[in-house]
Amino acid sequence: MDKLFMLSVLGLFIAVYGVAGNMAYDNMGMLGELESLDMEEENDVDLFEIPSLTSERGNKVLVNVESFGAVGDGVSDNTQAFLKAWETVCSTPKSVLLVPPGGRYLVNAARFEGPCQSNLVIQIDGTLVAPDEPKQWDPKFSRAWLDFSKLNGVLFQGNGVIDGSGSKWWAASCKKDKSNPCKGAPSAFTIDSSQAIKIKGITIQNSQQMHFVISRSHSVRVYGVQVTAPGDSPNTDGIHITQSTDVILQDCKIGTGDDCVSIVNGSSNIKMKRIFCGPGHGISIGSLGKDNSKAVVTSVVLDTAYLRETTNGLRIKTWQGGSGYVRGVRFQDVKMEDVSNPIIIDQFYCDSPTTCQNQTSAVNITQVVFRNISGTTKSEKAMKFACSDTVPCSNIILSNINLEKKDGTVETYCHSAQGIGYGTIHPSADCLKFQDKDYILMDQTEPTSQHIVHTEL
Ligand SMILES: *[C@@H]1O[C@H](CO)[C@@H](O)[C@H](O)[C@H]1NC(C)=O
Ligand SMILES: *[C@@H]1O[C@H](CO)[C@@H](O)[C@H](O)[C@H]1NC(C)=O
Ligand SMILES: *[C@@H]1O[C@H](CO)[C@@H](O)[C@H](O)[C@H]1NC(C)=O
Ligand SMILES: *[C@@H]1O[C@H](CO)[C@@H](O)[C@H](O)[C@H]1NC(C)=O
Repeated sequence: MDKLFMLSVLGLFIAVYGVAGNMAYDNMGMLGELESLDMEEENDVDLFEIPSLTSERGNKVLVNVESFGAVGDGVSDNTQAFLKAWETVCSTPKSVLLVPPGGRYLVNAARFEGPCQSNLVIQIDGTLVAPDEPKQWDPKFSRAWLDFSKLNGVLFQGNGVIDGSGSKWWAASCKKDKSNPCKGAPSAFTIDSSQAIKIKGITIQNSQQMHFVISRSHSVRVYGVQVTAPGDSPNTDGIHITQSTDVILQDCKIGTGDDCVSIVNGSSNIKMKRIFCGPGHGISIGSLGKDNSKAVVTSVVLDTAYLRETTNGLRIKTWQGGSGYVRGVRFQDVKMEDVSNPIIIDQFYCDSPTTCQNQTSAVNITQVVFRNISGTTKSEKAMKFACSDTVPCSNIILSNINLEKKDGTVETYCHSAQGIGYGTIHPSADCLKFQDKDYILMDQTEPTSQHIVHTEL
């Protein structure tokens, strides 16, 4: 909690908007909520040391995939063995599905569906590997390889690896070769329609497309997960969150060819802590509003991150023609190294072979805090707020920003963006327009309690 900051911003808002403005009140409400979105930290997380099965097992029932005929030789097809093992663990209380260390288990696309008996643990210590030939992929599973759904209270953990063998999929992407058709590829690991899920320590790599998708779920905790794919592998988002609430990502190291984290429609209360990102396209909210869709994303906090050599840093991207809103986002304590667009809000996002027409409708972006963001930028425009003429971005709050370019000057670009700067802001962001032109800028030292006393909030 950083109450002092809250109060400082409150003071400034009052200076800018006047005491009684409903708007200031709404802003403060949201900012207050944002501040209370602090992480309940899990202290036993260690990237490389997972609590051993034996010490945790107690009276658990161990179900080894090898006892259902799985062979970890990298070539035998283990799909049926895994599905049979799943049937057993899912229907046995307090059971542990074990993928033993050392083996490489080839598994085709499969759905592992709940509901299951309580206290299920999936212990992945070996490697699960996908068949690498897109032409032989079962079209029934065109968007997911390992799909877990309808689970309640399941722990996934281990030192194992989920490997999508994605290289042929990448080569077949229209992003790699324009003569290829643009079609989706499977995500490696999906948690869908589930709740109270914990994932600890697993590595997910070389996915066909997105690595780890959290969809239609709530209360999902992800600790110490690593995601790895080449920086030029197309659309290989690290962790993608859609229509999910109460999600925590902590101590994750992600390097891929697309967003390290992407958060899209229907997601709220998303907290990220200590995220390492690079290579990749940064930490993104969006894209949102494609094909005139409505999208809502609220309450997203990133606290402590290190981004290295990514194309974007902290990004919100929306398509023209969408509707809905992004409200209440805080990015703080982020260090960047050689990031191309460190801070970017882009309401003209267009990831399409044809140009996108401007439209009057847009996803409304408001109440976005960037606090204590420093490091180096590769482009001159260290901060970019490109917002819609008809739906301007509002209440962008910058506080203590220091972005430098190794060999040159930096600047902030604004179009139709309104906000406020607080503390040191480099490059300066004077182009963020206040809605009320008659504001009196207060001195930007620590606020006194006076600012609060005189309010009627
Ligand atoms: C957006 O998310 C909401 C809430 O989960 C859902 O009802 C809606 O169908 C989603 N819209 C799209 C276009 O996916
Ligand atoms: C600013 O962020 C950095 C991480 O990038 C952190 O080490 C530092 O403590 C933060 N400063 C403050 C005043 O919170
Ligand atoms: C859309 O609007 C923006 C901002 O006014 C402008 O810079 C851009 O050129 C327009 N794009 C198109 C395709 O008209
Ligand atoms: C966008 O949201 C802000 C804050 O809720 C609101 O004041 C503004 O009117 C909205 N803009 C549009 C075009 O709806």
